[in-house]
Amino acid sequence: FSKHGIFVERTLALVKPDAINKADEIETIILKHGFTVLEKRRITLTAEQCSDFYSEHYGKKFFPSLVAFMTSAPVVAMVLAKENAIQQWRDLIGPTNSNVAKETHPDSSIRALFGTNEQKNAVHGSDSAVSAEREIRFFFPNCVVEPIPTGPPATDY
Ligand code: TYD
Ligand code: MG
Repeated sequence: FSKHGIFVERTLALVKPDAINKADEIETIILKHGFTVLEKRRITLTAEQCSDFYSEHYGKKFFPSLVAFMTSAPVVAMVLAKENAIQQWRDLIGPTNSNVAKETHPDSSIRALFGTNEQKNAVHGSDSAVSAEREIRFFFPNCVVEPIPTGPPATDY
């Protein structure tokens, strides 16, 4: 919660291998849109880590090439905070397929600006609160997700 009592939500952002050389430029756009970058880490995923991260897509036709792509170079993982961060970040990245993004959101979508097609789409964003929690823990196992109690412990009568 912010000092005004507004719930500041968190989401996971990834800069994918195809956009790794644009990571600083993408972070600048993120900050310009009012997100706070709480955590940041650059990592080259193993096939096992990537399969775990994208386990919801296991068995789909594009899964093997997705894993090959996502392990081909480093990614930058970031925890973003903002009011309504999950939806706000999905809105800013745009449609999954960068070709669609270029048609529909040519100037504003990060996937339009930095991606290429339905696979090389520059960035990831968590799609729900449950996904965000899982994905933040995946990259930042020590990241504090629950607010830390600051007052004295509650009295037990
Ligand atoms: P998905 O969860 O459907 O999209 P999003 O990233 O917008 O949540 O798919 C996960 C990733 O899988 C997507 O970002 C790129 C890749 N992908 C392909 O390589 N081919 C495809 O046909 C689809 C739908 C996704
Ligand atoms: Mg998804």
